[in-house]
Parts: sequence; C-alpha cells; structure tokens
Amino acid sequence: MMALRFSIFIFTISLCFIFDFQAISAQRDDEDVTIKTMEEFSGYPIHEPIYPNSLSSLSVNSDSLQKQIDELATFSDSPAPSVTRILYSEKDVLARRYIKNLMELSGLSVREDAVGNIFGRWNGYEPELAPVLTGSHIDAIPYSGKYDGVVGVLGAIEAINVLKRSGFKPKRSLEVIMFTSEEPTRFGISCLGSRLLAGSVQLAELLKKTVDGQNISFSEAAKFAGYGNAKGDLSEVFLKKGSYSAFVELHIEQGPILEKEGTSIGVVTAIAAPASIKVTFEGNGGHAGAALMPERNDAGLAAAELALAVEKHVLESGSIDTVGTVGILKLHPGAINSIPSMAHLEIDTRDIDESRRNLVIEKIHQSALAIAKKRKVILSEFEIVNQDPPALSDESITKATELACQELNLTHKRMISRAYHDSLFMARISPMDMIFIPCYKGYSHKPEEFSSVGDIANGVKVLALTLAKLSLS
Ligand SMILES: *[C@@H]1O[C@H](CO)[C@@H](O)[C@H](O)[C@H]1NC(C)=O
Ligand SMILES: *[C@@H]1O[C@H](CO)[C@@H](O)[C@H](O)[C@H]1NC(C)=O
Ligand SMILES: [Zn+2]
Repeated sequence: MMALRFSIFIFTISLCFIFDFQAISAQRDDEDVTIKTMEEFSGYPIHEPIYPNSLSSLSVNSDSLQKQIDELATFSDSPAPSVTRILYSEKDVLARRYIKNLMELSGLSVREDAVGNIFGRWNGYEPELAPVLTGSHIDAIPYSGKYDGVVGVLGAIEAINVLKRSGFKPKRSLEVIMFTSEEPTRFGISCLGSRLLAGSVQLAELLKKTVDGQNISFSEAAKFAGYGNAKGDLSEVFLKKGSYSAFVELHIEQGPILEKEGTSIGVVTAIAAPASIKVTFEGNGGHAGAALMPERNDAGLAAAELALAVEKHVLESGSIDTVGTVGILKLHPGAINSIPSMAHLEIDTRDIDESRRNLVIEKIHQSALAIAKKRKVILSEFEIVNQDPPALSDESITKATELACQELNLTHKRMISRAYHDSLFMARISPMDMIFIPCYKGYSHKPEEFSSVGDIANGVKVLALTLAKLSLS
C-alpha cells in the first residue's frame, strides 16, 4: 500500500514537473531563505520540514548515522580528531568489516571484487534490469577528517534504510558501493577501484609491478587484506558499459560555496579533470659571486618564468573554470651561494572543457621550449603524467536529483566539482551525477573537516528520493 502510494506520488510529482515549476521553485527558495535567517538568529533549526503524504515517511535516522560516522573515524592510525586510513592497512580492513556489517544489517547482499570494491545489493522486483548504483570511498589521507567519502558510503546505506522504512519497493535493484582507494596515498594511484571498474587495462598492467614506499607490492598488500587473485589478473574487476543504469555519489562539497550561500544541496553537472605535468630544466650552475650575469644559464629563473607562464596561459582561456597550479618547485643544489643548475616543477591544470585544458598544456609546452632556448638551459623533461578527460553528468539524473530537492523543499543549485571523485571514472561506464552538501568553510583533507548532521540528513533524503526515481525509471 505504502509502496503503491509512494510510486503514485512520484508519478504525480513528475507530471507537475512538466508544468510550471520555475515559479514554484522560486517561491520555495524565498521561504527557505527566511527559515535560514531565523535559524541564524536563534542558532538552531526552527522546525523540521513537514512532508505531505508519503514523503513524510522519508525519515533519516540522524543520530545513528552520526554515531556511525564517529565510530568509523576510530579506525584510524592517527589520534582523533584526525583520521588516517590507508589502503589495505589493518585499520582499513577493520573499517571494511564495519561497512560490510552495516550493509548486512540493512538487508543488502554483500559481495567484493578482487581489489576490494564492496557492493551491497537490494533486489528490485525487476531484477533483470540494470541496477542503480550509489556510493563513495572511506579511505582517508594522513591526518584528514571523517566526512570526505564517508558521507557517501554511510549516507548511501542510510538512504536504503530510509526507503525500506518508507515501504518503498525498488523496481530496478539498488546497490551501494564502497570504492577501494580513492586517495592515492599508498600506491600513488587515485581512484584505483573505480578506474579498474571502468576497465583501465593500463592500470591493471601497472598494478602488476606497483610497490608502495616500503617496497611492498600491490598484490602482497591486497593479499594481506584478503583480496587479489591467483593469476594477479585484475581485468576480472572490469565492468561492462551498461552494467548500471545510473550512478549517484553523495559527497561533501570540499568547497565554500554552498555554506556561504546557505544552499542545502549542490547538483553536480560536471567534474573537472586534472592533468599533471613534470618539467625539468638544466643549466651549468656556478658560483653566485664569481659567475657574471651575462655568462649564466640559471635553471631556477627558467622555472620561475615557466610558473608565471602557466598562470598567463590559464588566464588566457577566459573561463573561471580553467585553473593551473605549480605546487612543486625544487632547485638544485639549493644553496644560497650557488646558481641553480637544475629546477624541477610539477604543474596541475584542470578544466571542465577538455580541449581548452589541452590547449593550456600545449601552450605550457611551447613556453617551456621557448624559455629553455632564450635562457640557454636544457629542457630535459616535459612529461604529461596524466591527462584524464572531464566528465559530464547525465541530464536525466541531474533532473531527477533537482526534482527530489524540489519535492523536499530544499534549496539547491547546479555546480561543477573542481575536485575529482570516483564519479569521474564511473561516468565512463554509466550515466552519473553527484549530490554535494555544505561543509564547514569548505575544509577537507584536514581534521577540521565538518558537515552538520542536518546537512547530511538533507543529502541522504535527496539521495534516497533520487534513487527511488531512478529505480522506477
Ligand atoms: C514544500 O512547500 C510547500 C509549499 O509551502 C508545501 O505545501 C509542501 O508541503 C512542502 N513539502 C515538503 C516536503 O516539505
Ligand atoms: C624490492 O623488492 C624486490 C623484490 O623483493 C627486490 O628485488 C628489490 O631489490 C627491492 N627494492 C628495494 C629498493 O629494496
Ligand atoms: Zn572524497
């Protein structure tokens, strides 16, 4: 009965959506601003939103969700409030056990692949249809916080609980995933699990010979955690395109926009993809006093000039979405009285428009060549380390998410993700979108990382309703 009412409700709302929805959304946004202002004055929420009909049955158990976030944070190799959870470490193994246990408590059937991507499945009443997938990661770089990734895994399991409690019955099966190693900490490879799921042959090959800082091989480390396979052939992890009808990732924004604007939900329309470049210039060095200026070929000055050229080329794109950073600049020998004989730069550049970003890379290369010529230094290295394409969200999924926000009367805005996520790679095999929630000052990757339990609950509700819609579609 409940299930039927719920489906009908969604159906009705979908019809309303076709009609006048601009006006409704504008009006609701105004109301929310008033509530926000009142809340800012009082310091606590004025009232819980009141839901009509079966939407009222979408209730998040915030206390238990917060408790789980806190408990998961105790599986850490650094003291609270920081969290350090490295791939295949003892703490990672314990945290994985915790997640699998929660999945089972929610009635999901759990399976794992050869690198430890963990799936929990709720069978739909048409189980032969491609399922809807949601999830994120729980690994944490050294001395980081307890929300990055975690909100999208524990929140996904809670979204399933929300739907179960509401009486909803999925048509397409719903699955929760915990990705292996989104962070590059141990083996220098980010989004390891999702890259493999997306079928990266190159990565499967690379992992056969990858070792960590302690010279422990990837397969040894995986074996320690109970993963891997006899042949060391990770291609069994690959998923076929179309294995899932949709992928949705709930995540903290890791930027300040939502909090600053008082907007509850960010609907991600694109994920900017990074490229990184390593550059080395070599000159003759020499004594800082004895070598006269006209005689020098200073590798350090070449690097300085290239760093400024990076900024110039990025700004020339004319788009706020193009960014570039020289985050590493090392001089050799690094003595005050020695002209740098070698300079090494590492450059990160991102954009949501691939050709625009590639043009920036090309201009940086041209500048590096010209600067080397002008300063009579050798450009001994210009290596593009990675050059991933950006990903666009699927319009039908972002629409479903926006509709969910509207039905829940939550303020929302479209935005792009400047950080990248497992979604970037899932986009290669499935239509996807991401749901962002506000986080304190945009902090992440540090212990101060924080999202309020109310903001998390909003995210979980939007996720639950989005999954419901996608499951029925
Ligand atoms: C959203 O706001 C409208 C208009 O105020 C109200 O009728 C509706 O019940 C609200 N829905 C929810 C889910 O709060
Ligand atoms: C790393 O381990 C391999 C295989 O055990 C060994 O051959 C190699 O010398 C080691 N390298 C270092 C730097 O210790
Ligand atoms: Zn993350």
